[in-house]
Formats: sequence, structure tokens, C-alpha cells
Amino acid sequence: MTWLEELAEVARDLREEWALTPDGEPTNGRTALVHPVRTADGRPTVLKVVRPHWEAEHEALALQTWGGRGVVRLLRADPRRFAILLERLHTEDLSGLWDVQACEIVGGFYRRLHVPAPPQLRTLSDQAARWERELGEKERRLPVPPRMVEQARSIARDFAKDGATDGRLIHTDLHFENVLRGDREEWLVIDPKPLSGDPHYEVAPMLWNRFDEYAGRIRDGVRMRFFALVDTAELDEDRARAWAVLRLVVNVKGELEDNPTPDKDWITAMISVAKAVQD
Ligand SMILES: Nc1ncnc2c1ncn2[C@@H]1O[C@H](COP(=O)(O)OP(=O)(O)O)[C@@H](O)[C@H]1O
Ligand SMILES: [Mg+2]
Repeated sequence: MTWLEELAEVARDLREEWALTPDGEPTNGRTALVHPVRTADGRPTVLKVVRPHWEAEHEALALQTWGGRGVVRLLRADPRRFAILLERLHTEDLSGLWDVQACEIVGGFYRRLHVPAPPQLRTLSDQAARWERELGEKERRLPVPPRMVEQARSIARDFAKDGATDGRLIHTDLHFENVLRGDREEWLVIDPKPLSGDPHYEVAPMLWNRFDEYAGRIRDGVRMRFFALVDTAELDEDRARAWAVLRLVVNVKGELEDNPTPDKDWITAMISVAKAVQD
């Protein structure tokens, strides 16, 4: 059975147990199966079942902590089966907006999202400590300028022992496609991969997504987005920049580890955003 077939089976069981009726075609991303369904009382919802992996283990906990404030509302969860039932939102996301305007919208969410983290979450300082170690391993030589790898490693080292690295609930994957049009609020955030962390960590996915739109004017484009996010959220510029550089280098590492034929263009994109954000 493929992973998708397995998820479809879990979804079928849950539809029965939770008395849900199919109400549209399911969609699937890289790890999730999302099925529009209706509850017994006719409410439009979606059933999301994901492939078990650690990043998804606390999606329900994060959604529950936010209680629908700026975020999709959680109606029901089965953490053991990595399944959640969510209020249904519209299909429109922030991809169609001017990127800088989208950054202002996302920057406006940060303050509401970054509440004290529930104690069950993994910490960003642990992650930083692991990255520091991994970036130093010689056998993992990256197709990245050595000075940038060394810089990323030193950033990871500093953040791993910085008291402000942990403590806030952060989404960690807040980009254009993870904000959908809602009715309760104009836009609502979905799809958290939560950690106990530092709000400044949140910025980077808004810089590396929609990369093609920089169209050769990377420096200006990255700076416009970066300052729209940092200014709207009143973040510390240097701290946000440091996390972004670290995350961009770590993305290259991830691409080499996860993809048997690493995407060279994507790697080049990561490096150019890391350069642009420091220019
Ligand atoms: N509450 C929701 N209402 C409507 N559509 C949703 C909802 N949650 C997710 N989706 C749709 O399913 C897609 C995948 O869900 P998402 O939670 O972003 O998982 P992933 O990106 O990890 O695959 C979204 O991009 C969106 O199109
Ligand atoms: Mg998503």
C-alpha cells in the first residue's frame, strides 16, 4: 500500500467514526490528505490526515492553543492517527496578492500567534544545537560557499545557547499557501509545524517561496519582503536575518539528504536569498 492509500484508509475509518459525509474531491500535498466533508449537522469542514512524522505531531496542540484566533479552528483531533477535523476555509490563499502586501498580512499575524508555547513542544534550541553539529560534519560538505556554511554554523551555535531561542509558540512553515481566505476573519493561518521557539525564526519561508517572482531583482525583492515582515511585526532586524541565513543553508542540507537528485536551481535560489538578505 502506498502512503496515500494508507491515509485514505485512515480517512475512511474516521469518516465513519465521526459521522462525516464526503463533500468534494480530496486534495493531497507532500504529506497530507485533505478531504472536504460535512459533519452530521451539515457543517462544512475538512478532514486532514497526515503521514506520521515528528513535525506534524503537535499540529492539533498548536491549533487548540490558538483557539481560532487568526488561525483555522480545530473541531476534533485524533493525534494517534495524525488526523484533525477543521473548519472549512476558502481555496484562495496569499499567492495571488502582491508579495509585499502578503508579507504585511503575515507580519500582522506574528504577534497573535507567538503566545507562550505549551510545554509538550520540541524546542528550537535543540534544533539549533543539532544543526550546529551537522553543519560541522565534513562528510556533509554542502554546495554552498564555505564562508556561508561557517556563518550558519556559528549562528546555530549562538542560538543554541541563547535564552530567547525558546518559549514562544511558533508556526515555522508560515508561507503564502498556508494562509487561506476565511469568513470569521479575512485571512486565517493553516498547517503549523509548531515548535517552542523564537518569533524571529518565522520570517524565512516568506523569502524563499515565490522565488521566481524576484525575476533577477533578487536583492530588492528580498529586502522589500524582509522589511515588510520585520517592520509590521516589529522584529529585531539582525536576529531575523540570522535565522533566515541559517534556515536557508539548512534547506540546502535537507535537499541533499531528502532528494536523490537534488534540485540545483533550488539550491542556487537558497544561496542567493541568503546573500540578498545580508546585502
Ligand atoms: N481548513 C481548510 N479549508 C479548506 N482547505 C484546506 C483547509 N486546510 C487545508 N486545506 C487545503 O489543503 C491543502 C493542504 O493542506 P495543508 O494543511 O496546507 O497541508 P500540507 O501543505 O502539509 O499538504 C491546502 O493548501 C489547502 O488547499
Ligand atoms: Mg500547506
